[in-house]
Amino acid sequence: MTTFATNPVLRRYWHAVCRSTDVLGEPLAVRLLGEDLVVWRGGDGTVAALPDRCSHREAPLSAGRVKGDCIECPYHGWKFLGSGRCAEVPSSAAGVPVPPKAHLRPVPATERYGLVWLCLDEPVAGIPEIPQEQDPAFRRINALVEPWQTAATRMVDNFLDITHFPYVHVGSFGSAATPEVPHVELRDLGEWYGYEYSVTAANPTVAASASGQATATVQRLMSSGFNLPFAVRSTIRYESGLEHILLLLSTPIDDATSYFTFVVWRNDDFSVPADEVTRLDRLIGAEDKLMLERVRGTLPLDHTALVSVQADKASVEWRRQLRALLQG
Ligand code: FES
Ligand SMILES: [Fe+2]
Repeated sequence: MTTFATNPVLRRYWHAVCRSTDVLGEPLAVRLLGEDLVVWRGGDGTVAALPDRCSHREAPLSAGRVKGDCIECPYHGWKFLGSGRCAEVPSSAAGVPVPPKAHLRPVPATERYGLVWLCLDEPVAGIPEIPQEQDPAFRRINALVEPWQTAATRMVDNFLDITHFPYVHVGSFGSAATPEVPHVELRDLGEWYGYEYSVTAANPTVAASASGQATATVQRLMSSGFNLPFAVRSTIRYESGLEHILLLLSTPIDDATSYFTFVVWRNDDFSVPADEVTRLDRLIGAEDKLMLERVRGTLPLDHTALVSVQADKASVEWRRQLRALLQG
């Protein structure tokens, strides 16, 4: 039986595995859809990825080092280019050709939004567009890419869920939220599918840097939408005109663990340090992590397996579309 994370369909989408700044020096071991991979940046600055298993005696290349445009295996020093080509076998005499089976399968890698994205097969879709990336009025702030002990499906369900705010996020912004949520209509939001809503949120000290206001509560016009398989964009517009775009990403490491990261774009005056701006989002992430790591297993995609109510409809729709996608 195919497990969720090894479904071949998921191999044809781009997944974020680390920040660009995580691969400035040493090679980095990552795991995507059950596969161990190594990511590194060659001498020309290009990011590359390969299976983290040397073709000689299976040593992890991630324990090796970068030598020019190659990654050097730590065991016997074989060198591999980003194309997967084995460029050198030091123990062989000059002129002796490299065995053809020494070459490794290349893994397509690219950088966008300060992140390294990998695709394990021929991509069928691009990385979702965030137009604010090109807008000089906005700055981008990246968060850490961290593994959570939860399924990617649980994470995305959580990203699309607003009814947990008064409970899970009572320590951050949720205390002014009312448990009853307004009726939302799902619609096409460009590359995203979701809903818009308006909410009165608490604005404690920790949230003041994000909201740019010092009042007890703030009015936020929000939208939340998904892009298959695991990206969610949440937009917040304050009455002051301040916009806060949040890209929430979940990448399946395997069925039970996933990378979580978020990226923020903001049209503020850039005066508040990035760490301050994302303090609230990081706190919210920690609250979600604590909750999700208590919930066992992957989220059943069959809608009859769980009870859902009107307020869950964005997640129900995402699950329906994901299920159709995974069934090919
Ligand atoms: S195991 Fe990599 S060079 Fe021998
Ligand atoms: Fe949350």
